[in-house]
Amino acid sequence: MPQIIAVLDFGSQYTQVIARRIREASVFSQVLPYNTSVDAIKKLDPAGIVLSGGPASVLGKGTPRPDPKIFRLGVPILGICYGLQLMGDMLGGKVESSSEREYGRSELRISRKGKLFKNLPEKLVVWNSHGDRLAKLPKGFRSIAGTENSDFAAIEDSKRKFYGLQFHPEVEHSDRGTEVLGNFLRQVCGCQGDWRLEDFTEKVIQDIRNQVGDKRVILGLSGGVDSSVAAALIHRAIGNRLTCVFVDNGLLRLNEREEVVQLFRNNFKGRLIVERSSNLFLKKLKGVTDPERKRKIIGKTFIEVFDKAVRSVGKVDFLAQGTLYPDVIESVPIGGNPASLIKSHHNVGGLPKRMKLKLLEPLRELFKDEVREVGLGLGLPKYVLMRHPFPGPGLGVRVIGELTRSRLDVLRAADAILQEELFQSKQYYKLWQAFCVFLPVRTVGVMGDERTYENVIAIRAVESSDAMTADWAKLPDKLLRSVSNRIINEVKGVNRVVYDISSKPPSTIEWE
Ligand code: XMP
Repeated sequence: MPQIIAVLDFGSQYTQVIARRIREASVFSQVLPYNTSVDAIKKLDPAGIVLSGGPASVLGKGTPRPDPKIFRLGVPILGICYGLQLMGDMLGGKVESSSEREYGRSELRISRKGKLFKNLPEKLVVWNSHGDRLAKLPKGFRSIAGTENSDFAAIEDSKRKFYGLQFHPEVEHSDRGTEVLGNFLRQVCGCQGDWRLEDFTEKVIQDIRNQVGDKRVILGLSGGVDSSVAAALIHRAIGNRLTCVFVDNGLLRLNEREEVVQLFRNNFKGRLIVERSSNLFLKKLKGVTDPERKRKIIGKTFIEVFDKAVRSVGKVDFLAQGTLYPDVIESVPIGGNPASLIKSHHNVGGLPKRMKLKLLEPLRELFKDEVREVGLGLGLPKYVLMRHPFPGPGLGVRVIGELTRSRLDVLRAADAILQEELFQSKQYYKLWQAFCVFLPVRTVGVMGDERTYENVIAIRAVESSDAMTADWAKLPDKLLRSVSNRIINEVKGVNRVVYDISSKPPSTIEWE
């Protein structure tokens, strides 16, 4: 068993960043809901516990608190932001709401380096985001650093190995924050830092063998990062007892089916079933213009086709899915409104119940970056691992209004030009996503001496780190000019190209 750091989640947007930073320091981490019982925490036998930040105030009623017995486990604890205030409040200090909200950068002046600030300079620029502040230290604690607004920006009780940071060491804007976290892990918790993703990959492969035994597995391969890496791992574990199904729903990008088949042939050598179902999908989508109905029909038809493919395989016991760790972490609904549905995401989660298959989720403990690294280790090509995300309903949500074969063809041709130009100008990997959208609006143009009356293509290119928020990308003029010229000249049926300059929120990344 590797040493584990338990990260209790109080709803901060940075909780997963903390967990990732810990893994980057070669120590395994797990995110747990803030109210996890002390017995469950004990079972993990963590080398340390981190209390995350969060949007609540410890001064409010019914605010999230951990089981108080965690402070008697004899395990080192690091409280970050709200986590520090919790420690202050629950261990007998005093927190008050401050008139000066500290938000953004501040200078941290370290008065005692101790273990937490070992090998660090006396001054650091750190990043804050809090309203309340600790006004009186709990017994046994002392201040080890302050900022202009707070004497207790970092505190310690070195005897009990409790530490608190008012700032966020996990964010990039905090100078040497990784080293502060690293000191907590190594100097305070005594972690060896010997967790390696390669060893973890071996363990996952072994786990798959144990779970599957001599049974067979089916996996829906989309050609995206997650399903490709899941397929590679399972193939490594059980070889030809893995069957992959690729559904061509007619809503794919140019040459996509051929590329996925090639990827499969080059990397897996097992059985691949290709379902060419574009006629079926387009028939069911005929005349449908409402985005939610389109999504529902695409999802339902996918299940039908997949179901039929599985039945053709014979006896299968497991359905593999590329579920990632962020999907597994139980979200804590504090302060925000995470439940509000904006778009129904095409999700194959409904499959196993109908098909009586057991779920196999080999990526469920990994973050996206780690999945990419595992994929690289398994020999998958970079263009697959670093590819932009592509939604399950595909071009179905990028042709606005009714889906027809000719509209899809126009969109595919335009999008292929955009992708080619992005690669050539070396912009592709700088973006979270970039794609074309077909607008069923006709506008007037002039080509040569002729009046034209054709459709519009919109270009959407965004920067983002997690798709929760996104900003439109400032692509170079030269690139935009070239994309626009080429689309209008080379794609029949388009005489106008526009650029989407909306951020998310209030817009979303996809148009439907
Ligand atoms: P929105 O449009 O909600 O998209 O800002 C956020 C991210 O999710 C992707 N997306 C999907 N992915 N199935 C998926 O697997 C879907 O139905 C789906 N809809 C949107 C979108 O491309 C972006 O990366």
